[in-house]
Amino acid sequence: MSLLEISGLTKRYRSVQAVEDVGLTVGEGEVVGLVGESGSGKSTVLRCVLKLVRPDSGSISFAGKDVLRMRGAAARAYRQDVQMVFQDPLGSLNPRMTVEQLVGEGLVVHRRLPDARARRDRVVELLGMVGLRPADLGRFPSSFSGGQLQRIAIARALAVGPRLLVCDEVVSALDVSVQAQVLNLLLDMRDELGLSILFVSHDLAVVNYLCTRVAVLRSGRIVEEGTREQVFGHPRHEYSRELLAAVPDPERVLSARSH
Ligand SMILES: Nc1ncnc2c1ncn2[C@@H]1O[C@H](COP(=O)(O)OP(=O)(O)OP(=O)(O)O)[C@@H](O)[C@H]1O
Ligand SMILES: [Mg+2]
Repeated sequence: MSLLEISGLTKRYRSVQAVEDVGLTVGEGEVVGLVGESGSGKSTVLRCVLKLVRPDSGSISFAGKDVLRMRGAAARAYRQDVQMVFQDPLGSLNPRMTVEQLVGEGLVVHRRLPDARARRDRVVELLGMVGLRPADLGRFPSSFSGGQLQRIAIARALAVGPRLLVCDEVVSALDVSVQAQVLNLLLDMRDELGLSILFVSHDLAVVNYLCTRVAVLRSGRIVEEGTREQVFGHPRHEYSRELLAAVPDPERVLSARSH
């Protein structure tokens, strides 16, 4: 049994078939990439997993439990087990909140660590994990770079101890050198915390760098799925080959790792 199991997922918006019959699994400690062009349905899959959007049909299970039927306490537990990081950190982090408030918010919302001092200690620990300093506690989002903001967003997501991290284009807005740092941080978190990651991106170089398994989405359907080596080395589907051919340098981010 995989940690996350999606099967037959279908979602239609009026005239648009956003996602059709999508099946996907993410195992414990696995990093799975979901790639496809703009409009192929990547974010719709994530929104269904996050219970932000209700699919028309299909099933989603997490640790063997039916996600779509979760209510009350089960849904609250699920909202801690599955955390998300998005593309635009400045847009997704409240500009009026300090780093301490932002990173500690999940702990407050889910009534974990009600003691302010214990919560601050935990926030400092989280900042250390993502490479930020205790001196950053009182700073506001506008004073950080894009890469630092994604570190804050990752610390915020990790605060309540999730088992699955769902990432939507999290490095797309960053410079290439900073991309590698944030991707390496995600891999470190996977190793240290045993985190599973479902990583959505239109950027094949990034997915090639990060993911052990890859699914290719086209017009709402998965046209190819396999290990990174299979999909990037020997793509079976014509569409995957076209996607790969359109990448100027798939090894781009990979080469940044040695620096
Ligand atoms: N709330 C909505 N109402 C109507 N149509 C929607 C809605 N959300 C998504 N769609 C449509 O569903 C399709 C899939 O959208 P989705 O956002 O999942 O694609 P995506 O792969 O994440 O694209 P991008 O790479 O641009 O983020 C698109 O045609 C989109 O226009
Ligand atoms: Mg999207």
